[in-house]
Amino acid sequence: MAQIHKSSGVIDWLDQRLAFTKLMKVLVSEYWIPKNINFLWAMGVILTTLFLLLIVTGFLLLMYYKPDVNLAFDSVNYTIMQEVEYGWLWRHIHAISASVVFLIMYIHLLTGLYYGSYKRGREVIWISGMVLFICFSAEAFSGYMLPWGQMSYWAATVITQLFGGVPVIGDALVEWIRGDYAVGDSTLTRFFMLHVCLLPLVTIVVLVIHFYSLRVPHVNNLDSEEIDFELEANEYLNGDRSKAKVIPFWPGFLAKDFMYVSFFMIFFIYLVCYHFNFAMDPINFEPANALKTPPHIYPEWYFLWQYEILRGFFFDILGISAYNIGLMAFAFAGVAFMLIPLLDRSDVVAPAHRRPLFFVWFWVLVIDLIVLSIYGKLPTGGISDWIGFFSSLLFLFLFIVALPAITILERKRG
Ligand code: HEM
Repeated sequence: MAQIHKSSGVIDWLDQRLAFTKLMKVLVSEYWIPKNINFLWAMGVILTTLFLLLIVTGFLLLMYYKPDVNLAFDSVNYTIMQEVEYGWLWRHIHAISASVVFLIMYIHLLTGLYYGSYKRGREVIWISGMVLFICFSAEAFSGYMLPWGQMSYWAATVITQLFGGVPVIGDALVEWIRGDYAVGDSTLTRFFMLHVCLLPLVTIVVLVIHFYSLRVPHVNNLDSEEIDFELEANEYLNGDRSKAKVIPFWPGFLAKDFMYVSFFMIFFIYLVCYHFNFAMDPINFEPANALKTPPHIYPEWYFLWQYEILRGFFFDILGISAYNIGLMAFAFAGVAFMLIPLLDRSDVVAPAHRRPLFFVWFWVLVIDLIVLSIYGKLPTGGISDWIGFFSSLLFLFLFIVALPAITILERKRG
């Protein structure tokens, strides 16, 4: 039984009951971060900020949104956008956060890839990060359906239809996901449940795992140097703070991160107030109409590279239909980044600029992702089809052949 005595203040009162000071030491003031990092390591905290913004604005939108095919469109476009005070602001913040979170996730992911932050005990950080990416993708897709505009309806139709490609159970699976033969009211209500309840819960659990998995290996650094965190922490606590290679999470690291978050918020507010259209497709301001297919269906910018891989294979190869090849390539693209700790077999843990072949691989991948995204937005036909085909092929080659080959070569060279 704890010794409870008259407390000298709030902290002491909490200390006696919750070991508050000890908890704060473990979580923040004696949780160590390398000094040798730059603004790219602030992306995690920016992502956390965006996630919180999505939750808060999501709650506000939920007060007026109606998950019913007859009411959803008006509840968003009239009630929230025109009648509720500041409803437009919460909707813009929600939509811009949903789009920008992907931009920051891509930067965060590419930083981890460039510095080899998926190796030397950091595999769980990487895999949980990729699971977060999948959670956010599912959140974005289910959220996109809720306004029940033309793009909501047709994107839902096209994407749910993809599950029809699963052998044997495909058709039954599509019907099970839609809750009906065609996308309709039951599809909207189940995606509403996923968007506001199940997926956020799963995301929070995976986020906790992501943060916890940083605990033992700690955050990587600009030189991918293996730091003895215990030794350096002792140096910081008992010796010369300027000599130590680490700083505490709070105030050292987080205070600087808040500065980066503030800079980011200037850009963010600018988007919310002046460029909100980039996160909202004009076609989605037309109510869903099952009898009128939009001339050109495409996803939001962050899914374009995967979408282009899906449609990149436009002719049958060796008797396998173009549709099935596209579907298999699309499924592979969905897990390709998750497999990186398995595909990179090299023992070298170093930034890409100190791994010449990997450096080339990294930049070719970035360029390929940009080309795929550009062509994913363009209508099919003519030269675009061939560019889409070759860049999809290049993506598969980079992951299935080039990366394992490069890392085996590095391993042989020692
Ligand atoms: C919304 C989603 C995410 C949040 C809130 C988040 C948050 C964080 C935070 C706070 C850190 C520590 C500081 C930093 O390095 O920035 C971190 C590190 C890391 N995250 Fe994420 N993350 C998310 C998504 C991802 C994704 C998609 C990946 C891709 C695989 C990923 C991979 C990593 C890696 C490898 C590290 C370690 C970095 C290092 O050791 O230098 N995270 N994350």
